[in-house]
Amino acid sequence: MCGIVAYLGQKQAYPILIKGLKRLEYRGYDSAGVALVDSEMAVYKCKGKVSDLEAHANGKNINGTIGIGHTRWATHGEPNDANAHPHYSESKKLVIIHNGIIENYASLKKEMIKRGHTFLSDTDTEVLVHLIEDIQEKEKVDLFEALRMALNEVIGAYAIVVMSKDDPNKLIAAKKGSPMVIGIGKDDFYIASDATPIVEYTKNVVYLEDEEIALLDRNEELKIFNIKNQSKTPYIQELELQLEAIEKGGYEHFMLKEIYEQPKSILDSMRGRINAAQGIVSLGGISDYETKMINAKRFIIVACGTSWHAGLVAEYLIEEYARIPVEVEYASEFRYRNPILNEDDVVIAISQSGETADTLAAIELAKSKGATIIGICNVVGSSIARATHAGSYTHAGPEIGVASTKAFTAQVTVLTLLALSLGKKKGTIPHSKFAQILSELESVPSKIETLLKKDNQIEYISEIFKNATNFLYLGRGCSFPVALEGALKLKEISYIHAEGYPAAEMKHGPIALIDAEMPVVVIATKGPSYEKVVSNIQEVKARKGKIIAIVTEGDVTVKEMADYSIEIPETDESLVPLISVIPLQLLSYYIAVMRGCNVDQPRNLAKSVTVE
Ligand code: AGP
Repeated sequence: MCGIVAYLGQKQAYPILIKGLKRLEYRGYDSAGVALVDSEMAVYKCKGKVSDLEAHANGKNINGTIGIGHTRWATHGEPNDANAHPHYSESKKLVIIHNGIIENYASLKKEMIKRGHTFLSDTDTEVLVHLIEDIQEKEKVDLFEALRMALNEVIGAYAIVVMSKDDPNKLIAAKKGSPMVIGIGKDDFYIASDATPIVEYTKNVVYLEDEEIALLDRNEELKIFNIKNQSKTPYIQELELQLEAIEKGGYEHFMLKEIYEQPKSILDSMRGRINAAQGIVSLGGISDYETKMINAKRFIIVACGTSWHAGLVAEYLIEEYARIPVEVEYASEFRYRNPILNEDDVVIAISQSGETADTLAAIELAKSKGATIIGICNVVGSSIARATHAGSYTHAGPEIGVASTKAFTAQVTVLTLLALSLGKKKGTIPHSKFAQILSELESVPSKIETLLKKDNQIEYISEIFKNATNFLYLGRGCSFPVALEGALKLKEISYIHAEGYPAAEMKHGPIALIDAEMPVVVIATKGPSYEKVVSNIQEVKARKGKIIAIVTEGDVTVKEMADYSIEIPETDESLVPLISVIPLQLLSYYIAVMRGCNVDQPRNLAKSVTVE
């Protein structure tokens, strides 16, 4: 979603803003803009990419050691030049950039129109900067105070930065519900939606808390206040993020790099948490809540998208090994249906970004009803990580491609560890099974390494099906969520319509779609439902559908029936999702590349969905 960058210091701001906006491109956006103060204030903004903005600003005055920049993901008003940020106040003395939604913007706007304000865009953001200036003039207060008073009037979520033409030594930033981090350099300040635009300049950062306002002055130290005007001491942390982690490192796309990183990211998710030889699994972050979890009446998993699919895999594993009932809910549905919850319930929130608005709201709701909340997040210090009672980080490293890949396998790894550790403590998993899965889990990274060597085979299959208009993905048991995930990946980046189904459900409807043009991807690995899946494949074949089968190494039956097959290394049935998802990620990647799609920034999508 929207990306924010700002700079105040001794260097030229424009190149820092542009580079920062490029680092934030992964979040998804449809227009971009910057504002700079030199002798005058200049605003350059346009629909399209940051490269379009550069072309637009080319030859114009881009000087100034203070500036703000923004990438906009449209919510209020279509993506066009006028709706792009920054937005001016009525007098054009102030500019604002904003991530989030001002829910009561319509009534505020109406009021201000009555008082003679004119608006140049359809955005909620422009209303906020008009309101700030309106208060400043009416109440005869300084900009900081006017902004503070304005924020007390707005309902909604925001991360904002405001700059004034009359005071080019100051930036004011504030946040509620949308993330914001401030970098403190030797003699300068950086502001951004996340640390990626900051890491190459400084490792000292302050994560702004909700309802905090930061005052950045060229000649002073960082000051933070809350919305009630109480002063707070900035908590300066050291960034762990490495620059290499957010660069492509020789790969054509971040998504491909992240697919290839999975042997390492899965290992990182397990690091220090398992010891197969000694039969130990421990998730330090949640150890204080383990008894609560073992005694829970049920688990409710809340998540969105790919993280929801990881939750579905966890449902199979936790019920099987820990014998605790699990419900998996879309966070967006859960939060609005007055769910029945009590103190014996444990809610597990899964999120790569840790910023997903629906998941965050589901957590707040569950908390208000007394449930214990456990978070499984990738981004350290994210809003969800901070909102939960306890949790485990997935340690997949920064995921830049909008289509989630390594975050999914890291989530499934951590959730597998959770199921095993609870099962062991509860005594619901036989010792031999526990030991077998644990040692299998340790070998998953090397099995994925082997599988990745076959990616030319997947590229070959992709070439054959790149022009298909529909795809069906089928799986049973914990391969069903993998089918959903495979379909989601294809939709997201290649724009081909795809559906995932439990294989047996096919005959209850989707079978009507099958003809000689329909590719059907079936996860048909060895396991208890193998024979059943074989029957489902027969049903597709009888209707001339084209089968692309994911099979276990050495398989004969399905390979003979399938039009194309991809062998994956054998593993325990409950760990198959970690391996079988890899060829599906690669299939969607290659098809999207062959169709000329923007793999890392698919149209309309955002990496962290910070609006509901
Ligand atoms: C995955 O490829 C998607 N881009 C999307 O479905 C994502 O998983 C979803 O928005 C949830 O995000 P989160 O894990 O950051 O909460």
